Amino acid sequence: MKIVITEDYEELSRSGAQSILDVVRQTPQAVLGLATGTTPLGLYARLIADRKENGTDYSQIRTVNLDEYQGLPASHPQSYAYFMRKNLFDGLGMDPEHTNIENGMAEDEEAECARYDALLNELPRDIQLLGLGSNGHIAFNEPGTSFSSGTHVVTLAESTVRDNARLFSDISEVPRKAFTMGIKQIMQAKKILILASGANKADAVYKMVKGAVTEQVPASVLQLHPDCTLIADREAAGKI
Ligand code: GLP
Repeated sequence: MKIVITEDYEELSRSGAQSILDVVRQTPQAVLGLATGTTPLGLYARLIADRKENGTDYSQIRTVNLDEYQGLPASHPQSYAYFMRKNLFDGLGMDPEHTNIENGMAEDEEAECARYDALLNELPRDIQLLGLGSNGHIAFNEPGTSFSSGTHVVTLAESTVRDNARLFSDISEVPRKAFTMGIKQIMQAKKILILASGANKADAVYKMVKGAVTEQVPASVLQLHPDCTLIADREAAGKI
């Protein structure tokens, strides 16, 4: 794993945006695997600013997102579908037909997972962006998830519910289940870019980079990827 340590969140966001822009400029029909959470927000803001300044073209770009809460419609302000529209897709002028995410309202879980697996096979990702859970999760693959998993429904770890409660008005409103891309599919991306910011990620970063490759730390699987870069700010990199 290549490791880039930045002074602060600003620099992390700038450097991450540059990696995505390199792919978009080289491959106008690229497939981008995208993530939610607060960590990529600065990167997304920079992509939008770049498009305003330089007119970067996203008309042929396609995206696939990692995960979605179960039970939230795409119109719900806390859904990941809404998050992506508000924080990135509207600003890039993305054709909604070119963006993909699990349907949190799907009644048939198995059919929805199979639909997403098929879609991921059709759209091999040129780059996959990831955040890191404080418990070492990637997407919503919680500790203990098999490295060979495809798209599946997960029950969120208590620590994840607590971490994500800050984005809801009350912890009782945080959905307990979610659809997530599996670890096998994350590993199929040609390139992986994982971002980590802040001292609360320092333990997870340490285990991901220096610890054993184990299903108890889902992000540790990234040590096995041939082209994975971690961009961490000083605080997140504090223990490595
Ligand atoms: C969430 C998301 C992940 C994200 C992680 C970290 O639970 N499912 O995709 O990477 O938590 O979030 P944040 O960037 O807000 O710390």
